[in-house]
Amino acid sequence: MRNVILDCDPGHDDAVSIIIAASKKSDLNILGITTVAGNVEVEKNTQNALKVSELLKLEVPVVQGAERPLVKQSEIAPEIHGDTGMDGPELPEPTMRVKEGHAVDFIIDQVKRSKEKVTLVPTGPLTNIAMALIKALEIKENIDEIVLMGGGTFGNWTPAAEFNIYVDAEAAKVVFESGIPIAMFGLDVTHQVIATPDIVERVGKIDNEIAQFVKELLIFFGQAYKDHFGFNGGPIHDACTTMYLMKPELFEMQHLNVSIEIKGEFSYGMTAVDKLNVTGLQANTHFAWSVDQDEFWNVFEAVLESYGEV
Ligand code: RIB
Ligand code: CA
Repeated sequence: MRNVILDCDPGHDDAVSIIIAASKKSDLNILGITTVAGNVEVEKNTQNALKVSELLKLEVPVVQGAERPLVKQSEIAPEIHGDTGMDGPELPEPTMRVKEGHAVDFIIDQVKRSKEKVTLVPTGPLTNIAMALIKALEIKENIDEIVLMGGGTFGNWTPAAEFNIYVDAEAAKVVFESGIPIAMFGLDVTHQVIATPDIVERVGKIDNEIAQFVKELLIFFGQAYKDHFGFNGGPIHDACTTMYLMKPELFEMQHLNVSIEIKGEFSYGMTAVDKLNVTGLQANTHFAWSVDQDEFWNVFEAVLESYGEV
């Protein structure tokens, strides 16, 4: 069992990532779910995290975090995720309550008290992670790895920058310069896991409540990506993190240096992926270039089917 904290901004693909982590197939021990301002305002992301946790009967703390990035003002993406941040499926208002306190303090406390090293799994802007490292740098010693969705060799928010990194590039710089091992799932690999109509049909055939919820998520998310980017479905970006934790062999990774741009007029938020080691800088990231797509979807299908097993 690997101790993990899921730091997220649900978010359709964040919700899918949580579902993978919570499944009996994952062998992950979720210490908590922390939320951050990202896809929409942090309050809405938190409500969505509570709704998904309740649907999963997942009895772990949900703790709200940063309301805005370290330096810049927030930018949100309702055009992709809808005004609620998780438009599409209807879930009841949660009876679960958010845990008192701030996500940053929760992360620090959980990492300090964990007897095993903790893996942090951020799938939104890196504000909470950076704040935890700034407030209590000593927690580095008990963090096994940071497995994150963000960045890439191209952008989806600007030509150079992916949304999660762009929203808080200063926070990303703190994280990538922390010296903590990083596994990075950027757009290069996440755009290889697009939930096309045939994938949605495969999910729709799985007869349990969780699979049907995921089908609804994928339908809304896919339409948003079709309307906004002309894609044939929604890339389930964040799911790459928890799929990697389950089946690392699905991914082709390269250990290289990634530096974060925080100054450029056109390049702010860029992750400078040093594929050819032209900088000679120390490798700080295991970067995912590709994934075995057929096997990814087979594992994904098995995870959803496991929710119907008694
Ligand atoms: O750019 C994709 C990322 O931004 C995903 O994490 C998605 O949920 C949004 O947060
Ligand atoms: Ca996200």
